[in-house]
Amino acid sequence: MKKVLVINGPNLNMLGKRPKEHYGSKTLDEINELIKKEADGFFDVSFYQSNYEGDIVTKIQEALFSFDAIVINPGAYTHTSVAIHDALEMFQGPKIEVHLSKVDEREDFRKVNFIRSVCTETFAGRFELSYIDAINYLKNIK
Ligand code: DQA
Repeated sequence: MKKVLVINGPNLNMLGKRPKEHYGSKTLDEINELIKKEADGFFDVSFYQSNYEGDIVTKIQEALFSFDAIVINPGAYTHTSVAIHDALEMFQGPKIEVHLSKVDEREDFRKVNFIRSVCTETFAGRFELSYIDAINYLKNIK
């Protein structure tokens, strides 16, 4: 069975407490449960969350050798991180960018995106369903 790594960046461990109009009301644990259900029978899914850029880079480096696909919501690092861009660039399998909010329709600083150019596809603006869209996309290309 193909292995999928779901990575969440800074502040996504606080879902449930963040503005609901942007991020919905589910906690990260609840979202991960939904992802697990959607992937059941298709993918072996692992979950990783960190508030630290370097730790996310290290995790992506480890994934080069051990995962078939990456689903990543880099949170605020989407708009700042050359290091996460460079790490994702090396990953050969599908890498799916996910956002809960309509990230391209918010503040101008969120329109800056260091990640998209190295990702295979983007799903955004559907709260937790953006992650489900990513899993279903992977099912269709597997
Ligand atoms: C986010 C959007 C980012 O701009 C923000 O910093 C986040 C979450 C999203 O899922 O909509 O933390 O990636």
